Amino acid sequence: MSTEVIVVNGGNPLKGVVPITGAKNSVLKLMAASLLGPGVSTIDNVPIISDVTLMGEVLTCLGASVTFGDHRVTLDTSRIDSIETPYELVAKMRASIAVLGPLIGRFGEARVAMPGGCNLGARKLDLHIVGLEALGVVFEIEHGLIHATTPQGLHGASVLLEFASVGATENLMMAATRAQGTTVIDNAAREPEIVDLAEFLIQMGARIQGQGTTTIQIEGTDALRPVAHHRTVADRIEAGTFLVAGALGGGPLTVQGANPQHLQIALTKLEALGCELVTTDDSITVSRSAALRAVDIQTLPYPGFPTDLQAQFMVLDVLAEGSSVITENVFENRFMFADEISRMGAVLRIEGHHALITGVRQLSGAPVQAPDLRGGAALVLAGLVADGQTTVSAIEHIDRGYEHFVEKLRAVGADISRREQ
Ligand code: EPZ
Repeated sequence: MSTEVIVVNGGNPLKGVVPITGAKNSVLKLMAASLLGPGVSTIDNVPIISDVTLMGEVLTCLGASVTFGDHRVTLDTSRIDSIETPYELVAKMRASIAVLGPLIGRFGEARVAMPGGCNLGARKLDLHIVGLEALGVVFEIEHGLIHATTPQGLHGASVLLEFASVGATENLMMAATRAQGTTVIDNAAREPEIVDLAEFLIQMGARIQGQGTTTIQIEGTDALRPVAHHRTVADRIEAGTFLVAGALGGGPLTVQGANPQHLQIALTKLEALGCELVTTDDSITVSRSAALRAVDIQTLPYPGFPTDLQAQFMVLDVLAEGSSVITENVFENRFMFADEISRMGAVLRIEGHHALITGVRQLSGAPVQAPDLRGGAALVLAGLVADGQTTVSAIEHIDRGYEHFVEKLRAVGADISRREQ
């Protein structure tokens, strides 16, 4: 638990330019994928966040040498001497499971601790396991460890995912690059991070088609090589988070280095909420002078509305004229943020997967606790426009996925700081 808190005094207008970094939810998988190509790979546009440091520790545990530069990570995976990831690391970061596919692809075996549940719900791995079993992987789960072996080798297969799981699509794609024959993944996840990973694997010599569509085809190859240079795709969720700050504070606020194509539904919702948008191929500018108008939101796999922006957009709806319903369709339990923002005066009720919201004119600052990464960021956003002071604790959640969050907000006019609690 961090001993620091973020303190926000609400009411400042927010305007200016926010630089957007590389996507957390891509770079963690690119780092894992480097296991497939023995040698030195370099990844640029790497955000300075604790999850990246943790993934570096996971790979170091396996025998890789990992060095960080300025928004850059260099990974030498020529001497991997372990196929086991320790529980204490996996427990800290569920994304560690992304080494499962590459280890199976390279060594035909892996031993990965079962990630604990997290505060978004159970977050099972059944889709990863069923999919990899189709490729010939045999799983034994004992003492909290997943032991994967390939007694008959790894072979291509057709896999239909019951749900377009991002993680399952990624593990399957990475393992399939080294299978004998061709693998087809149907109902695959279509996120921009999946496309980024596929492009990284293709640079390694993998043969992949269909990334970004619901059907991905991977033709197995005998060996893959390291990647001399890859630039991580921009973080659409960081961009969306700061666009909400601009929508709350009036703007004009520009997120620089973001691809508007990766946020189409979220941008449509911002316009429905009463914002004006101007986009270029690598920036989005938001401004608002009219009152916020309530909109309903349904989270869905990409290109649907991103679940990782649900809490942030809830701040807009709780301050909008009218009533709205936000439905969370991706995670079983992603409304913890709602409990915290109610402490600031939001009027809402949770009914299963629905948050029923009645807009209020003003939130009031209060001491609140970040429940998770995106909920923590959303509480800071609420503090930016609340009456009085808001203190957000448990900010280690925010540091997992946002680089210099406080500094970037201060640079566009927020009265915000970090201090020991
Ligand atoms: C990735 O998680 C992201 N994390 C999440 O971002 C994001 O919310 C999620 O994709 C959906 O877009 C990273 O990339 C590190 P899923 P992942 O597999 O891969 C269920 C953030 O804030 N499921 O698409 O774990 C699962 O329980 C984080 O940056 C199964 O039932 O997401 C969940 O309800 C939060 N069985 C749903 O599918 C499985 O085998 C979506 O999971 C796998 C998943």
